[in-house]
Amino acid sequence: MQQLIRGRVLSFHADPHDTTDNHRYREYGAILVEDGRILAVDDYTALARPDLPEIDHRPHLILPGFIDTHIHFPQVQVIASWGAQLLDWLNTYTFPEEARFRQQGHAPAMADAFLNLLTDHGTTTAVAFCSVHPESAEALFSAAHARNMAMVAGKVMMDRNAPPEVLDTPRQGYDDSKALIDRWHGTGRQRYAITPRFAITSTPEQMAMAGQLAREHPDCHVQTHLSENLDEIDFTLSLYPQARDYLDIYETHGLLSPKLLLGHSIHLRPREIARMAETGSRAVFCPTSNLFLGSGLFDKGGLRAAGITSGIATDVGGGTSYSMLQTLNEGYKILQLRGQKLTPLSAFHWITRGNAMALGMDRDIGTLDPGSMADLVVLDARATPAMALRMDRAETLEQELFILQIMGDDRSIAQTYVAGRAMKPTG
Ligand code: GUN
Ligand code: ZN
Repeated sequence: MQQLIRGRVLSFHADPHDTTDNHRYREYGAILVEDGRILAVDDYTALARPDLPEIDHRPHLILPGFIDTHIHFPQVQVIASWGAQLLDWLNTYTFPEEARFRQQGHAPAMADAFLNLLTDHGTTTAVAFCSVHPESAEALFSAAHARNMAMVAGKVMMDRNAPPEVLDTPRQGYDDSKALIDRWHGTGRQRYAITPRFAITSTPEQMAMAGQLAREHPDCHVQTHLSENLDEIDFTLSLYPQARDYLDIYETHGLLSPKLLLGHSIHLRPREIARMAETGSRAVFCPTSNLFLGSGLFDKGGLRAAGITSGIATDVGGGTSYSMLQTLNEGYKILQLRGQKLTPLSAFHWITRGNAMALGMDRDIGTLDPGSMADLVVLDARATPAMALRMDRAETLEQELFILQIMGDDRSIAQTYVAGRAMKPTG
């Protein structure tokens, strides 16, 4: 089945940091979709045919769907928990909430709510931490598979420094992860991420098991947290006294590679930066979370200069919004405090093609190239009275994008398509 989706179409083919020839914008554009994939993008007049069903989104902008490279599925009821920094926040709010995911029926209900929230906010792919219970990952994968929505997810492996209801063992963590990989990795659009939560909650024995899984499944991502908070770093190094630094723990267990996603990566030592660059490991910037938990200011420019690719992500529930637009808003401000700039073109490249490249998934998602999945977001820069008033003074595409980047949220998401299917009510 073919359909034509009409609007003002924007997609990136290069990083705006590298070249001025980075995007293609069609004011009178359209996207031809067949069986969930993009067949062509062109001017509307070049693609229109009398027999084609059409959806007209003018005057809105159509971009590739947003990609969130770090989010915690079992924290949908943790977001906006008051007053604590990382370790207290985990102990007080997060671990008790994640314990609920072993209760029958809880994970499937939350998975539906979680995926609805993602698509309501324009996010079509997420890289998600699940709880320690394999049922949580099972529920998320099942719900995403039913929607044909690309998820990268894994159950956290954690065997110490948390309440018993959220702990596994090195063997159980390995076996449960392995079973989930066998069942879900490569099933439809689902991909598995091996997920040792962070060094504090894994013994060296469990880290070794995570390394073994990564060796046995080089095609799987690995996700964890690195150097988010100063107390976290001190505690981590006390638990691994042999380690040269925090990254060294992941390094000695064989986890460093371009498949490794290191959430936060804020307080890094020069050796860590050099090793991340040499191994192609990715940093993931989580601006709303870093501000909310008082963690620190990510050095995007410094990591980039060192040759490290960074993703950007919400980190809900440490993060305070599901919106990648709000994530860009806070990211812009953090980079301001660092004396760095986030231009609107770079910002929208980052949450689409940039994040897809950080995941090595840019053949399927993140652009509107023919052959890509038709995961799309339709953006309304006049979604609120304040935005509409501001838009009356916007003269360029870049100004419009910046208004979305700073003032936008789920109200600006006019529609979200997952594999060609509209996810919000139409009409
Ligand atoms: N470090 C280990 N677990 C977590 C988590 O759930 N959220 C954040 N922000 N950092 C973590
Ligand atoms: Zn996180």
